[in-house]
Amino acid sequence: MNQPARERHDRFAEPSRMPHNDIVIRPARNVAGTLHLPGDKSISHRYAMLGALAQGTTRLRNFSTGADCASTLGALRSLGVAIRRGEEGAVEIEGAPWRAPRVALDCGNSGSTMRMLSGILSGQPFTSELTGDHSLSRRPMARVIEPLTKMGARIEAAAEARPPLRITGHELRAIDYRLPVASAQVKTAILFATLFAQGTTTVEEPVRTRDHGELALAAFGAQLARNGNRITMSGGQKLHAVEAAIPGDISSAAFFLCAAALFPGSNLLLDSVLLNPTRAALLDVLMGMGCRISVVNLEEHHGELVGTITVEGAELKGTVISGALSAALIDELPVLAAIAPYSAGGIEIRDARELRVKESDRIAAVARNLRAMGATVEEREDGLRVPGNQQLHGAEVDSAGDHRIAMAFAVAALRATGDTLIHGAAAAQISYPEFFTTLEALVER
Ligand code: S3P
Repeated sequence: MNQPARERHDRFAEPSRMPHNDIVIRPARNVAGTLHLPGDKSISHRYAMLGALAQGTTRLRNFSTGADCASTLGALRSLGVAIRRGEEGAVEIEGAPWRAPRVALDCGNSGSTMRMLSGILSGQPFTSELTGDHSLSRRPMARVIEPLTKMGARIEAAAEARPPLRITGHELRAIDYRLPVASAQVKTAILFATLFAQGTTTVEEPVRTRDHGELALAAFGAQLARNGNRITMSGGQKLHAVEAAIPGDISSAAFFLCAAALFPGSNLLLDSVLLNPTRAALLDVLMGMGCRISVVNLEEHHGELVGTITVEGAELKGTVISGALSAALIDELPVLAAIAPYSAGGIEIRDARELRVKESDRIAAVARNLRAMGATVEEREDGLRVPGNQQLHGAEVDSAGDHRIAMAFAVAALRATGDTLIHGAAAAQISYPEFFTTLEALVER
């Protein structure tokens, strides 16, 4: 703890150079136990950014331990924001006017950092440059450049609107904007920019995406309204600091929920997990596939639902995921696809083209790794069909430098015959550095 962000970041930036980057997962008989998850990545990013703008000291507990959120804190420090990190995810942030950074803002692997910060930087009276690692440098940024330019910012990018970005902030004007792609990051960037805009912004999303940006703005004192898929917010609102515990990350919980789903005798309890309805669709899908799941101790903290989940595995049925459900489950689709061969009916995923422009091309990476483990997979432009009743064998698989691929295949490996070697396993650091240790503590062999 209290390590400079730069140092932390460099350790995580290029997992392939890290020691212990390969990991062997042995088959398991069962998973059982209790776990507490580090704070949700999406909420951690947003609370850090808003805390850095708010009046007063924001005190957060259970902040995400992942390298992505460390990238956000590092960028904020470069913007002159005072941040202290303590034990067990404690983070204190002094809200203050931001100053022109003397260095490029290194967003590491984090699309959330780059896209959401762009919204705020668009309204600042200085120029800043945002860079990222190899993976982030390939990700599409036109989706934020277009609306923020409409609001009055000047944004230059590399070819095909890829990073690095150079943002010259400006006094902004509100916009009425329909997102061409469903993206909570872009929606949030526009709403954050609205804090520095004159007039009333309306953002309409094609399908409902995670609403942490809206809930975080409200928690920090902003007023905004939702009507169906349209959000309206007036510009120039001031924020006040908050004290909050970040709920456990349900997208990290997903790997354990799916691991439990693989073993009919399993039993896991996960406490203080984020249960925001825009994020918790996995619970319904797993119940539909036959798992027994219950939620107790449901509470609301700063607008976010939090509760304790228990899960017991089952003989899994298959399912089809498409339309708005694919958008709601976008971060959980790799692990669902990875457990699909062990279900009776298989899993078909449609309308998930966005998976191709995540930290890796997740459709290609999942198909490649499943095939390496002996599965038949149909890869499609916008998804996958993974037939059921397939027994996987241990193999060499590759994370493609992508945290969710590394963790998804650690789960698939638990029911394979023989050991699985995961290359690039250290990518898990991006969202969940404790993942492999926690997994080992929960599996029975
Ligand atoms: C996120 C939104 C999603 C998700 C990402 C985090 C967020 O991305 O995949 O991991 O915190 O808003 P998109 O905004 O590109 O859909």
